[in-house]
Amino acid sequence: MSRNLLHLDASARRNSLSRRLSAAFADAWRAAHPGGGYVYRDLAADPVPHIDEAWTQLCDHVLEHEITEIGRYAEAVRTPGQARAWSIVEPLLSEVVAADVVLIGTPMYNFSVPAALKAWIDQITFPRMSLKGRRFVVVAARGGAYGPGTPRAPFDHQERYLRDFFGGHFGVDDAVFVNAELSNALIDPRLAHLRAEHADSYEAALAAVRALGGEAS
Ligand SMILES: Cc1cc2nc3c(=O)[nH]c(=O)nc-3n(C[C@H](O)[C@H](O)[C@H](O)COP(=O)(O)O)c2cc1C
Repeated sequence: MSRNLLHLDASARRNSLSRRLSAAFADAWRAAHPGGGYVYRDLAADPVPHIDEAWTQLCDHVLEHEITEIGRYAEAVRTPGQARAWSIVEPLLSEVVAADVVLIGTPMYNFSVPAALKAWIDQITFPRMSLKGRRFVVVAARGGAYGPGTPRAPFDHQERYLRDFFGGHFGVDDAVFVNAELSNALIDPRLAHLRAEHADSYEAALAAVRALGGEAS
């Protein structure tokens, strides 16, 4: 069976831990799936626009007319403005629909996801839409530590948001999260004593993404 990987990155940095980790997953996945399809999208370097009013009209039409099949969304286009909005959505959505695995490399920004990633989610999401059957892999880097039992655990609105949204709205029951933590220890002199802990976290994340990418699924 041929398989398709959609690979997204969202860090504003070029030299980025989440980019390195998502690339490691993609390399392992492509080695394990020689005939597989691969699409890459850099949401930071090539940002998708925020949704506009015409987009909301498409969304309202789909909801009002109980259109739940993604293949029928184009029926909602009735004006030139809506056609422009749809021309942005359509390629983004096609990439997701065609994917068996959606890989997202993302930093934590302000306890959550970067606006660049949120803009992509807003563009591709419609009411009662199902992406069930796909695996979502989120590879994240964060400056602090948010693991279970840490003082900052309740502030992790990144993994929590993505997990709840993919499961609760898209009906995705196969979502995997790998986090490299404490990267601020490399920059912030006050956190210098945590550099070894960061290195361990990064190495563990790297091993995890290589193993996940190499799974012959
Ligand atoms: C705008 C911005 C906001 C950030 N907010 C947080 C935050 O809320 N919590 C945190 O732990 N780190 C935060 N950081 C640190 C990043 O998560 C960290 O640098 C991470 O390694 C970024 O991923 P990258 O290396 O893939 O760019 C922030 C960094 C930036 C630039």
